[in-house]
Amino acid sequence: MSGTPVRRSALPIHPVLNERFSPRSFSDRPVTDEELELVLEAARWAPSSMNEQPWRFLVTRRGGEGHAELLSALNESNSVWADKAPVLILNMVHRTLSRNGQENFHARHDLGTAIGQLTAQATALGMGLHQLGGFHPDQARTVFGIPEDVDLVSVIALGHPGEPEALDGSLRERELNRTPRKPLAELVHFGKF
Ligand SMILES: Cc1cc2nc3c(=O)[nH]c(=O)nc-3n(C[C@H](O)[C@H](O)[C@H](O)COP(=O)(O)O)c2cc1C
Repeated sequence: MSGTPVRRSALPIHPVLNERFSPRSFSDRPVTDEELELVLEAARWAPSSMNEQPWRFLVTRRGGEGHAELLSALNESNSVWADKAPVLILNMVHRTLSRNGQENFHARHDLGTAIGQLTAQATALGMGLHQLGGFHPDQARTVFGIPEDVDLVSVIALGHPGEPEALDGSLRERELNRTPRKPLAELVHFGKF
């Protein structure tokens, strides 16, 4: 990551978790094939309900096949900075269970777990990523010919974080000010709700 890592929790959680943030500034440094394989491999080993492994990823590289198409499916508020990211990943889930064709209630849950692992691995490698819900799934489905039993959930912009100064105005402010968190007491119930 660029600059000194900002630790966010006062407690000694693992640095990979404590220093992670969602960058909007990406450096020119490319993501190597080895780095890309490692982050995808980290996702692959995530746990999933009945080991269904419902996650599917469509990966594009800046200047490569499909990248302009995936970028153009992002909301403009995202594409304005995500166009610098060397890699985009379209995150999807196979919606039904392979054993009986029923709806997989935990499919998106399991995708989130896999992305969490991908994120931790990317951070450990000094990379940064930004997950994006602001995109047009119907457009991406059409352009990539994705079948109906696959849900398009989010997009990841992946790369090596760049300097905040490379961003304009309000985006620069957001890059410099880390997002807050609710207190544990608001999130956790012990023994009763
Ligand atoms: C599923 C998901 C969708 C998101 N969509 C967007 C988005 O469309 N645009 C954006 O700028 N950030 C998006 N974010 C980033 C969140 O705003 C960010 O993770 C949150 O504010 C916490 O900040 P941090 O990741 O830097 O800790 C998304 C994050 C997730 C997990």
